[in-house]
Amino acid sequence: MRRFLVPIVASALAAVPPAFAVDFVKDVYPIFQKRCFDCHIDQAKHPKGKKPKGELRLDTPEMILKGGEEGKVLIAGDPEKSTLYKLVSLPEDDDDIMPPKGDALTKEQQQAIYNWIKEGGKMEGWKPEMAKALDGGKAEPKKLDLVDQLAKGLSPLDAKATAPVSKLGGLVMPLANNNSLLQVNLSLTGEEIGDAQVAQLTPLKSHLTWLNLAGTKVSDDGLKSLSGLKNLTRLHLEKTAVSDAGIQHLSGLDNLEYLNLYGTKVTNAGLNELAKMKSLKKLYLWQTGADKAGVDALKKSHPALYVNIGWEKPPVVEQKKEDAKKPEATKAEPANKNPAEVKFADLAKLFDKGSCCFKAHAGGKDCGHGCCKEALAKGKVCLKCNPGAKGKQKS
Ligand code: HEC
Repeated sequence: MRRFLVPIVASALAAVPPAFAVDFVKDVYPIFQKRCFDCHIDQAKHPKGKKPKGELRLDTPEMILKGGEEGKVLIAGDPEKSTLYKLVSLPEDDDDIMPPKGDALTKEQQQAIYNWIKEGGKMEGWKPEMAKALDGGKAEPKKLDLVDQLAKGLSPLDAKATAPVSKLGGLVMPLANNNSLLQVNLSLTGEEIGDAQVAQLTPLKSHLTWLNLAGTKVSDDGLKSLSGLKNLTRLHLEKTAVSDAGIQHLSGLDNLEYLNLYGTKVTNAGLNELAKMKSLKKLYLWQTGADKAGVDALKKSHPALYVNIGWEKPPVVEQKKEDAKKPEATKAEPANKNPAEVKFADLAKLFDKGSCCFKAHAGGKDCGHGCCKEALAKGKVCLKCNPGAKGKQKS
């Protein structure tokens, strides 16, 4: 199988010696119940009668010891050789990671499995009646869960409340049909957006979850007014004057998962502030003052954090793959995994108002046209669909 040919990336966790005795029943089995039972239990017990994937069952100690189609998954005392640990500690974008859907296990969960195996992988205290799935085992990505959770009990804001922000040239849209949270894009009139305008977002604070301030004139001070946006999950600050001093105003954003700092003055000192933000999952840092040492230090406290410091993959190829996997991607998710989106943010100013690209960009998507994707892959906007961009971009 392919995974056994790929060198396993040594995880930061691997070097950490076990600090305490792990209780299988309390610390490890519930992880399996929540995150693995959807695919790895007895077919007869599966709510939809699914066969265990990889012929692996994790619902009883006997089956855990038996392993899957590739043989044993638990090598007592040796987590590095145990696929049970190896596959949950892979980098988040690895195709072989377990669970294959939804978020990776948290650092604490990975550590618990590591310690448990290191200490011998004992399963004392387990009882058959425990073999039930716990909530949280759904294969739904948590990103969706989080915004759905945050939207609970929220009624839609009426147009009166959002009018002042729209007047600034901001695009204000619901996150999805069935979700009252709002996405606001102020990057399209970036030149006219400064601290005073950003402060006008405060009345939307219970609804605002995606905010795009790319290319605006917001300053470090101006970020203070974001500190009350408790439901903010995504924040674009690329191409702004924001520096380390501004980052500290973000550290109370408990739900922030995505932060784009491309082309800002942020340095390693700013990354230090980010270390406090436990919710953070994706961080875009290219063309900043931060370097590999800073990223490595940050990764010590956030091993699962995805940090992008430059272009690594051709966006078109990646885009197609995503499309094929999720034909009906909803608004609540798409751009998260779309490396092309940053290009959109970058190119947004060149789009003709009203063009297919412009509209799609506002929703965090691409328009799906071959010509536009092709242009985008080259870091350009499609001139057929945006004739106004002629002469404004480098040829
Ligand atoms: C959505 C379904 C799904 C979930 C949830 C899931 N797995 Fe898997 N798992 C698979 C599939 C599919 C395979 C077979 C992969 C293959 O053959 O490439 C597999 C294979 C494995 C294997 C290798 C078994 C073998 O011998 O080939 C291990 C170990 C494993 N999973 C552990 C876990 C753990 C631990 C969890 C929970 C933290 C988990 N899986 C959650 C789908 C899932």
